[in-house]
Formats: sequence, C-alpha cells, structure tokens
Amino acid sequence: MYRTHTCGQLRITDAGATVTLAGWVQRTRKMGGMTFVDLRDRYGITQLVFNEELDADLCAEANKLGREYVIQVTGTVNERYSKNANMPTGDIEIIVNKLNLLNISDTPPFTIEDNSDGGDDIRMKYRYLDIRRNAVRKNLELRHRMCIEVRNYLSNLGFLEIETPVLIGSTPEGARDFVVPSRMNPGQFYALPQSPQTLKQLLMVAGIDRYFQIAKCFRDEDLRADRQPEFTQIDCEMSFVTQEDIIQTFEGMAKHLFKALRGVELTGPFLRMPWREAMKRFGSDKPDMRFGMEFVELKNEDGTVNFFADKAGFAVLDEAQYVGGIVAPGCAVYTRKQIDQLTEFVKRPQVGAKGLIYARVQDDGSVKSSVDKFYTPKQLIEMKDLMGAKPGDLILIISGPDAMKARKQLCELRLEMGARLGLRDKDKFALLWVTEFPMFEWSEEENRLMAMHHPFTHPMDEDIPMLDTNPEAVRADAYDMVCNGIEVGGGSIRIHDPKLQAKMFEILGFTPEKAQEQFGFLMNAFKFGAPPHGGLAYGLDRWVSIFAGLDSIRDCIAFPKNNSGRDVMLDAPSCIDQKQLDELALIVKNQ
Ligand code: AMO
Repeated sequence: MYRTHTCGQLRITDAGATVTLAGWVQRTRKMGGMTFVDLRDRYGITQLVFNEELDADLCAEANKLGREYVIQVTGTVNERYSKNANMPTGDIEIIVNKLNLLNISDTPPFTIEDNSDGGDDIRMKYRYLDIRRNAVRKNLELRHRMCIEVRNYLSNLGFLEIETPVLIGSTPEGARDFVVPSRMNPGQFYALPQSPQTLKQLLMVAGIDRYFQIAKCFRDEDLRADRQPEFTQIDCEMSFVTQEDIIQTFEGMAKHLFKALRGVELTGPFLRMPWREAMKRFGSDKPDMRFGMEFVELKNEDGTVNFFADKAGFAVLDEAQYVGGIVAPGCAVYTRKQIDQLTEFVKRPQVGAKGLIYARVQDDGSVKSSVDKFYTPKQLIEMKDLMGAKPGDLILIISGPDAMKARKQLCELRLEMGARLGLRDKDKFALLWVTEFPMFEWSEEENRLMAMHHPFTHPMDEDIPMLDTNPEAVRADAYDMVCNGIEVGGGSIRIHDPKLQAKMFEILGFTPEKAQEQFGFLMNAFKFGAPPHGGLAYGLDRWVSIFAGLDSIRDCIAFPKNNSGRDVMLDAPSCIDQKQLDELALIVKNQ
C-alpha cells in the first residue's frame, strides 16, 4: 500500500499517529531550519514538515523537491502551532521521517491552484494538469454524482439502461452528421448518432416499455458556450404515455436532482408556457424566468396592437412590422455613454438590430426620449403608461420589419439588462416547460418545411386536420424543459401510426422512395405493432454546468473541444496517412 491516508483525511484526533501519505508537491517553503511542503491529492492538502535539526539529510532532500513532484512520505501527525482555519486539515501537520521520491515533474505551465494563472488555451492543452485543480475536479465529481442519482432514480421507476450503437446510418434533418468511412464497405459511411432517437423508438416497438441511456451524441454544428460537438444526453423513452405522464416523470426527476445535489427544494408544479406566448412575452423559446422585464408590444404583426398607427414621419417605426420594448427599472440615470453601449450591443452581428430607441421617465412623470421630435409629449406619456414605466425607469425599444427577428433582438437586450442589473443570479433557479411548439419551420436555405423538433414528433391531435390545409399552423405534441434561460431537455410524443409517419415525410418533402431509403427501418418496424410512445432527452452537460454555476459546459467535461471543434490536447482532428486513406478508398482534396 502506497498510503495509509489521503491528503484530505487527517484531523487533530489523529495526532500522534504514524501515517504514510502520497501525492503531488503543491509548493515548498523554507523558513529557517524548517521546510514546509504542501502535499496534494484529490482529497485535499496536508502540510508536511522537514526539520533540519531532526534530520539534516532528509531536509536537504525536501529542499530539492519541485512543484508537482510525486512523493511518498511517512511521519507523525502533529498538532500545528499556527492553525489554518481555511483548510480541513489545517489543525495538523506531518513531521516527516521518511521521504520517497516517486516521480519528478517538469515545471507546470500554469499554477495548479484554485485561481490559476493559466489562460483557457494553455489549460486546455494541459487538461490533465487543469483537472488536478479543485475548480475543475469538483465539476467532474458533481457530474459523477448526477449520473449515479439519475441511474438510481430511473432504475427505481423500472427504466432499463440499454446501450445503442455509435456507428449508425446517416439521417437527414437536424444538424450535420459526423461520418465515419467504412473500410469493409468502400465508399460507404457510418454516421455518429446526433441522438439515439430512432433506436429508442425501436426499443419501444421491442416492448422495452421504459428505456434510458446516458448516451454520447455527436453534432457537427457551430459551437457556443452551451454546445459541444460531442455531448451527453440522459436519453429516455416510455410506452403507453401521454405528454402529461412524461412531464410528471421528468419533472419529478429534476426536482429530485435539485434536492439531492444542490439541496434546493423546488415546490409546486413547474410553470408551463405555450411557445407562442414565450415568444411574445420574452422573444425566446427558452425564457429566463429569474426576472421579469417582460416585453410590451407597441405594434405587432397581426395588428392586434398598433400604438404607432398614425404615421409620424419616422420611418423606423412607421414601417416596422413590430415595435416592442422593455422597462429597465431605475435605469433613467443611465448616461449617454451607457446608452451608446447598449446601442452598440444590439447592433452587433450576433444580435442584428438596426438601432435602439430609448426613453427616460423623469421624476415628474414626463418622458425624454431619442424620438422626441417625432412624437408629442402626450403620446410619449401614453406610451410610458402602456409600458407600465415609473419615474426613474428607462424604456428600451426595438423595432423591425420582421416581428420574430425583432423579438429575438429584444430578447438579447432583455438578457443583457438582466445581467447588468444582477438579476441572473446563479444560485436562483427558475424552471418551466415550454409546450405547443410549431410542428414545422420554414427553411430559407432548403426552401421547404423542416421539422422543428424531429420528423417523428406527433402533432397535437386537434391540429391534425390542418396538416393538409395549413401545416405551418400545426402545433407539435412536444415540450422543452428550460432552466434559467437554458434548454436543459426536450422531447415529444411520437408518431406510432405508419400512415401518419408517411404523411409527415411527405410534408417534409421526401418522396415515398426517399423516405423508405432513409427511414425504412423505422417504418417497417411500425408495421409490427408499435405502441403509443414518447420521451425526452436531458442535456447532462447543461444540467451539471447549471448546478455548478458554470458559464460554459466545457468546464464539466473532462476533455472538451475548443470553439473550433479541436481537441488541443490530443491535437485532433488531424491528417491520416496515405495508407489509411487508400484502405478507406478516400481521396482528400488539397485545401
Ligand atoms: P434535442 O435535440 O432537443 O432532442 O436534444 C436534447 C437535449 O440535449 C442537449 N443538447 C446539447 N448539449 C450540449 N451540446 C449540444 N450540441 C447539444 N445539443 C442538444 C440540450 C437538449 O435539450 N432525440 C431528441 C430528444 C427526444 O425527442 O426525446 C433530441 O435529441 O439540453
């Protein structure tokens, strides 16, 4: 045995004991005839003491130890003279009488401490050193605990964990696939699953009834803070269920995870909000409900609101399809510079607005705005009243020729103001279900309707008649779970009727032959008694990062990719040699 205890274990009650520890040298300090070494392992740090007077040779050896050297020491637990209340082991130290150097180390490229001096790139390149830091390791520990909780919770409800293959066929729709060439079938490719969607549906046809899997998924899409090309889903499917059954089951699981892992008791049912309402009130299908600042519509696409009906000679509003605003409480004091910053923010390509209109509500209730010359003071006061703004508030307005785009821009502004006003508290959790998503969305790129969730989603029963007449108005029997403005999960009731599934492929522009070629395996299976079924997938990485209060899911993944999809530690992706290309019958074009 290399050690009798870990570096986080010993306490004052162990004083006098002879112990052996092993770990990494965090730092050494020489003070007079004494050398102090902080010894670290996964469990904590213990202070070692080498005393020149007791053993000069041993002390000389200790003085040669460098950062991250791996050592084994034996010694006696001693009560410390000056205790360190910030460390669990801070009451004791080890008076060392035996030192065994297990391995040396190069000087690490950054300090392995809670507040490292290493930038993102260098820490990614040396991720194995980064993981030695508490800050990263504790996220992996949380991830582990979450997986255990999920497995126990679902297993207790009768769910079976079943692995599905990673080398599968490419399916259109959704994001771009990662593909793998097949040596044994030259010119043919596997695709890595974007999710085990069709496989879990086949398991329902197989009578499994309740399935789950902590599944790796792969999507070749642009990366963001909450997106990785390779990520993990808690993927679930159930037979003989309605939307309500699924919502109850997985709301229960979410509550359990909050209680078990964060000690947070979420009481009462989660809020539910139809997609259309979420878009109108917050401009997003994943509204951050930790704060208000709801949109007030001043003009909308269906003409139900038209505050700016009279043309004022101000084309920006006269010609807009949508005008809407938010009230930033107490922000009338914003300086010109602060307002300019907000204008710059909404004009950034990622947001895409043409500009920002603002109005300060003065102490006397009058309004000073950037559009004073187009509207009378009375009109502006009416607008302020409509918006529910009070003296001291700042009204921020976005307009645009496309209502949905303008809403999304206003959503970005709302989130920015929420952050500036400190309303996006990471220790506060606001969960909701967004329901009644549109079944289809129009793709400009493909010039056809695309499934908003996926092509296996069941339409809401009452909307089925509209599939032929007005497919864009059809709502899906689909639901997303949202936490603090992040989509943490999504799912739907599936189509189990082969005829309805065939119709869906037709609406999505597949010929019967193409549908058979791409999805024949599923449609054939449905001929053999598919039960009504539905399910959901939670994003494991997103849950862990919310629970850990992280800004990016990268920090809870042991070996993540960077924003260009590269693993900078493994230097992947990389070129392969000609022999391998030949075996795979591949020719690479010169880039
Ligand atoms: P969906 O595509 O909504 O549904 O994915 C489910 C959940 O997975 C997470 N997620 C991601 N997390 C990190 N990086 C990504 N690139 C990424 N993409 C998605 C999100 C999301 O809510 N098969 C369906 C589920 C179903 O219908 O049962 C599916 O994959 O948290």
